Amino acid sequence: MLLPPLLLSALALLLHSTSAQFPPELFSPLIPSKILATTNALPNPIQYPQYTDARNPGRWLYFSPNTWTSGFFPVTLYELNTRRQRCGVTQANGLGAADWLALGRAASNGLLNLNADSGIGHDVGFISFPFVEELAINPRNQTAIDAINRFARQLAARFNPTVGCTKSWDSSNPTNFQVIIDNMMNLEVLFHSADLTNNATLRQIATTHADTTIRNHIRADGSTWHVVEYNSNTGQVTRKRTAQGYSDGSTWSRGQAWGIFGFANMYRLTRNPNYLSTARRMATYFLNNLPADGVVPWDFNAPLTPAPRPADSSAATLAVNALLLLSEHETTEAAKQQWRSGALRILEKITDLAWSPSWQSLLSNGTVSLPANNFLTGTVYGDYYFIRAGNELVRLGLTSCRSNLSPSPNNNVAPQPQTSSGRRSARVLL
Ligand SMILES: *[C@@H]1O[C@H](CO)[C@@H](O)[C@H](O)[C@H]1NC(C)=O
Ligand SMILES: *[C@@H]1O[C@H](CO)[C@@H](O)[C@H](O)[C@H]1NC(C)=O
Ligand SMILES: *[C@@H]1O[C@H](CO)[C@@H](O)[C@H](O)[C@H]1NC(C)=O
Repeated sequence: MLLPPLLLSALALLLHSTSAQFPPELFSPLIPSKILATTNALPNPIQYPQYTDARNPGRWLYFSPNTWTSGFFPVTLYELNTRRQRCGVTQANGLGAADWLALGRAASNGLLNLNADSGIGHDVGFISFPFVEELAINPRNQTAIDAINRFARQLAARFNPTVGCTKSWDSSNPTNFQVIIDNMMNLEVLFHSADLTNNATLRQIATTHADTTIRNHIRADGSTWHVVEYNSNTGQVTRKRTAQGYSDGSTWSRGQAWGIFGFANMYRLTRNPNYLSTARRMATYFLNNLPADGVVPWDFNAPLTPAPRPADSSAATLAVNALLLLSEHETTEAAKQQWRSGALRILEKITDLAWSPSWQSLLSNGTVSLPANNFLTGTVYGDYYFIRAGNELVRLGLTSCRSNLSPSPNNNVAPQPQTSSGRRSARVLL
């Protein structure tokens, strides 16, 4: 029997798309309500939430603007503005509760006085995130332009051409030049400033840093060292080690995720195929080394006993964003699907484990630093990447904005009890 063409193509679509389900919590009204509560509780003079108190679970701890994570709360507010634009305002989604853009702008102001000797170091890239969002909305905002150019100059000033990297951490020993994999996330600000100023040197510094990182930070199997130390005079590698991971030879999961995102982003910015293949190798390691339960561990080589091995929800939500970014740059459907189904698997597991309605943070089960005994926390960056994951899934056309947590009659934001059969009715086509 011959099938009509329309039916045939519908069938083909059905066969080619893996249908999966995404966590409805991604669009929960609890998200805007918690973020608004945190905004209203920001200290004056401003300090920013970084992680929740392990001794007082679920309560944010606040830090001075001069902290690597200070940009994440302001950029979270911009992300809710993006969500409001993508999803609209409904009674159920809670996005009408505030003018997120105005709140994001106000919260960013506390970052403007950071100067070169603030000690913020290479993390100016992270701090620049809200200003990058501001320029996407208002490209003529001179305050944001100046901030981006200043942060880029500060990062460029940390570049050592003999080493071929920008310096991550300062050391009391002037020849000890330390670079961490996280630094890949800070390079984007150099591209924005290069575009704003026509200074091509900034782009060259970024690509040189990335090329050196490919040579020295990544193992043959696609895993990473956290820290590589160089001799600043000769450029020789003197040591490869960990700081926040389990051991010098292990793979700290958040570092691995920073690396996937960083290289996929470098590919987006340059179209250099080496960056794409590096991101793929690192992503392959990440997915192949997930434990059977799919929960992202704080370090891939950390022992399984005593159980449970602490998770890192921030590495998980960051990896989801990294995999989605990577998938966008693949040209075949099969390759796109491979990364997207990995992303969905991680997202489902971490939401099940870490979604915490009674906490101030959205998620628990973050590991800030296990060696420093700082784990079982919420993190401002883990929450940011959770929200961003939802927004990216919508932008890519992979989900709708709808939360299937039906609002209670009085439109109270209290979450529905979760049942393994009932909660996942939303579907996503991959
Ligand atoms: C420009 O950006 C800064 C910093 O992000 C923000 O505080 C300010 O409100 C913005 N100005 C306008 C006119 O939007
Ligand atoms: C371009 O940026 C680099 C790094 O900040 C700086 O040293 C150089 O002077 C800049 N070039 C111009 C023409 O401004
Ligand atoms: C997740 O966090 C809860 C407490 O918030 C803890 O009891 C549980 O052991 C954690 N699980 C993992 C895998 O980290």
